[in-house]
Amino acid sequence: MKTLDQIISERRSVRAFDKDRPVPEEHIRAIVEAARLAPSACNSQTWRFIAVTRSEVIEKICKTAMRPVIPNKWLSQAPLLMVGCARLDIVANRIGARVTGTEYYQIDMGIAMEHMVLKATELGLGTCWIGWFAEEKVKAILDIPRGVKVPALLAVGYPADAAPAGRSRKSMEKILFSETWGNPFTFSE
Ligand SMILES: Cc1cc2nc3c(=O)[nH]c(=O)nc-3n(C[C@H](O)[C@H](O)[C@H](O)COP(=O)(O)O)c2cc1C
Repeated sequence: MKTLDQIISERRSVRAFDKDRPVPEEHIRAIVEAARLAPSACNSQTWRFIAVTRSEVIEKICKTAMRPVIPNKWLSQAPLLMVGCARLDIVANRIGARVTGTEYYQIDMGIAMEHMVLKATELGLGTCWIGWFAEEKVKAILDIPRGVKVPALLAVGYPADAAPAGRSRKSMEKILFSETWGNPFTFSE
């Protein structure tokens, strides 16, 4: 059993999948269960997910709904596309957003989908978030109604290659302050 530390450090964005190896249904269930247990503002659970496994649909999304410059062509090889949908008709979220200016559904979706990512990593699957797409096109292809947002997609599958090199990260000193903005946090040991 992998530890959480192992899963977090093992995870990479995977952009090359074994197209002929589908994601078993029990793994789809497990990653959605991980999302289902995520926290959400007012426990509103705005999320809904569409598991797209039909290769012709994934291909259509890849060909017609990606944006230029980063066209995410590798997506056509993914055996599973999890489409993250958020219902906007949750009253608590709407009132909350009006008062604070925070779109809570975006936070909720991010947490739930990262739960999926970590569970998928534990199961030996690769994932890649996709945020660079034309939402209206995805909605049209999948019959997603008005009043539902699609903030992100998640490609899932067995990696085709060895783990891609990890991206560099900012140092702890750069991202952690102590007590007030900009004040360096110094660890005692
Ligand atoms: C919200 C979000 C949207 C992203 N959108 C894309 C995308 O459209 N295409 C892509 O190739 N990677 C996308 N990524 C993956 C990031 O590029 C990747 O997480 C980052 O470069 C760090 O690399 P790592 O995930 O391997 O650690 C996205 C990641 C997040 C969190």
